[in-house]
Amino acid sequence: MADIVRDIAVEALTHDQAAAELAALAKEMAAHDKAYYDRAEPTVDDAVYDGLRQRNAAIEHRFPELKRADSPSDKVGAAPSGRFPKIKHGAPMLSLGNAFDDGDVHDFVKTIRNFLKLDETEPIALTAEPKIDGLSANLRYEMGVLVSGTTRGDGQVGEDITANLRTVSDIPEKLAGSGWPEVIEVRGEVYMSHKDFAELNERQDAAGKPPFANPRNAAAGSVRQLDPGVTASRPLRYFAYGWGEQIGFDPGSQMEAIADFASWGFRTNDLMKRCETVEEVLSHYRDIAAGRADLGYDIDGVVYKIDRLDWQARLGAVSRSPRWAIAHKFPPEQAQTVLERIEVQVGRTGTLAPVAKLKPVTVGGVVVQNATLHNEDEIERLDAREGDAVIVQRAGDVIPQIVRVLKDQRAADSVPFAFPDHCPVCGAEAVRDASDGTVDVRRRCTGGMSCKAQVVEGLQHFVSRNAFDIDGLGEKQIAAFYDWELVKTPADIFRLEAQDKIAGNLKPLKAREGWGSQSVTKLFSAIDARRRIDFDRFMFGLGIRNIGLTTARVLGRHYGSIDLLVAALDEAKDKTSDAYQALTDIDGIGATAALFLIDFFTQEQSRAIVDDLLSQVTVNPMEAARSDTKVAGKTLVFTGSLEQMSRNEAKARAESLGAKVSGSISKKTDLVIAGPGAGSKLTKAQDLGVEVIDEAAWVQLLAEIEG
Ligand code: IVH
Repeated sequence: MADIVRDIAVEALTHDQAAAELAALAKEMAAHDKAYYDRAEPTVDDAVYDGLRQRNAAIEHRFPELKRADSPSDKVGAAPSGRFPKIKHGAPMLSLGNAFDDGDVHDFVKTIRNFLKLDETEPIALTAEPKIDGLSANLRYEMGVLVSGTTRGDGQVGEDITANLRTVSDIPEKLAGSGWPEVIEVRGEVYMSHKDFAELNERQDAAGKPPFANPRNAAAGSVRQLDPGVTASRPLRYFAYGWGEQIGFDPGSQMEAIADFASWGFRTNDLMKRCETVEEVLSHYRDIAAGRADLGYDIDGVVYKIDRLDWQARLGAVSRSPRWAIAHKFPPEQAQTVLERIEVQVGRTGTLAPVAKLKPVTVGGVVVQNATLHNEDEIERLDAREGDAVIVQRAGDVIPQIVRVLKDQRAADSVPFAFPDHCPVCGAEAVRDASDGTVDVRRRCTGGMSCKAQVVEGLQHFVSRNAFDIDGLGEKQIAAFYDWELVKTPADIFRLEAQDKIAGNLKPLKAREGWGSQSVTKLFSAIDARRRIDFDRFMFGLGIRNIGLTTARVLGRHYGSIDLLVAALDEAKDKTSDAYQALTDIDGIGATAALFLIDFFTQEQSRAIVDDLLSQVTVNPMEAARSDTKVAGKTLVFTGSLEQMSRNEAKARAESLGAKVSGSISKKTDLVIAGPGAGSKLTKAQDLGVEVIDEAAWVQLLAEIEG
């Protein structure tokens, strides 16, 4: 309907049409915003988005009384054109030409030799360093102080994301050392490590939010947040590798320039190396490629740059790439294959997860047969159909994905995939209602514990690596034990041995397929070893929706023991209780996680399972976070320099006392510790009326608390 009214000129709209269209626009733009900010995957281009914004503004202008509470015009930080204000770079941000094989690299150097008219014997030194798979950011420093930070944008003009970049701890607010140029635009890559990416996705999942597809998307989504507080909570990193406009920067070589950056407090890449010959460059390329999987972050090639800066200047740029640098790309980890079938699997929480069954294909050295399709919206977005030719991609450790469907190769009789609305395992209805009444991206089976898939997946999760981690008891064994009716609940695992010894109607385990007396003895002792279990493993093992390992730890640190947690949850059933308030006040526990927790522990069926399990195992208490100190639960900001301890130590000690340490001042800041040289943060704290103390007072406070 919205599309029909959108064709009518604003002047011709009726009151009702205008109201309907404003509602549709608010919804549509919120969806675009979500895609843009949360997932960094814009669903429309800027011009279309601007068109929607203008139409919304025009309708509101004509019918001011219809302006909605959730009007897109009121979204904070939203700029009139594009979503962040634009800033022109002092010098253009170029991109790199590519080399795909050794021959291309030889050609690159040959062209340079010719261009500079260098003798055959003249050595041409090159630097070689990893090409980080993140997004580039331009940081402008004036007199050593960060004044702006921008995205690359179109290379000439970038988006102003200064406030967000200030929260990245690898980005110095003030340059360290001395002798910095009057002006310098430092260029480098914002990225996320594999470990941080995995943890972020775990948190996303715990908060009921969709996961990021890869570390690059996660980094891009994180720097484009409207609220710098959100960016601050994302584990972003930065490597400096180049520069743009500068006044008074005169290093001797590319290598020396990067050493200067390091002395100013930037992180630079350890794998950067100066090479004298093309052979040396290529051998460094192979070393980097060989170590790629262990780097801990994604790279997609090696960048070579001419080390001599006078030569760089003479070489200049052709179109948008410098002649003095090139990216030697790794072979693409993509391949074409056939999507043979779409299988809908049922997960532990009843999620219907579509999996692409592929004709086996080698991608980057690994045979791929399955790829994730995420959810039914993703299938629709790709318009993926059984029998389609598809391009699959494997990026780092991430599960293979289908990037694109080759629609021109599609058979004439192909039909769109019909996503089931009933559970393929138990036949119960499958729905997309989220707890708050909105439409969930995931469709879930409503069969609960009567759905075999959910029970078996739940048991498999229970014994998984981060949960009970029982040696010799993996997914396969669990599935067999379930089919043999030996294990239906977690507690049954701990009764296996006793049951096995009762001579009765059941066949002993050692006589069953895949088992012998030795493996059975081993299994029983592995199970016994887990009769004492850490709090976080126990909680995580229960497989409660939205309770990942991180959240389990947060709960452990807050409540200390399982008994205290259970008691608190019993009370928290009543949403007006202090216990409920206390639960939702815990940093890291959202309203949704709280809801699932209370639900799980108060529902008869799941509670009986927990009680039964607790009759078999003992849960180690966890050391609770301090809640009894003066700074507990407070948000602290350190600014300026500290003399008696490093920033890191100050942060660690504050956190061990139950405080949160933030990088930026906001209304939520409780206390600022300002050392000499504190600048804009101090002013801001004073403006906001936040309490400010000096280092001496901080040390005294520590002494008082720590005793
Ligand atoms: S130098 C004028 N060095 O690759 C040369 N770029 O394709 C500017 N990148 O936009 C780039 N790691 O986002 C350079 N060590 C590195 C890099 C690197 C990643 C990215 C950067 C740039 C893109 C060019």
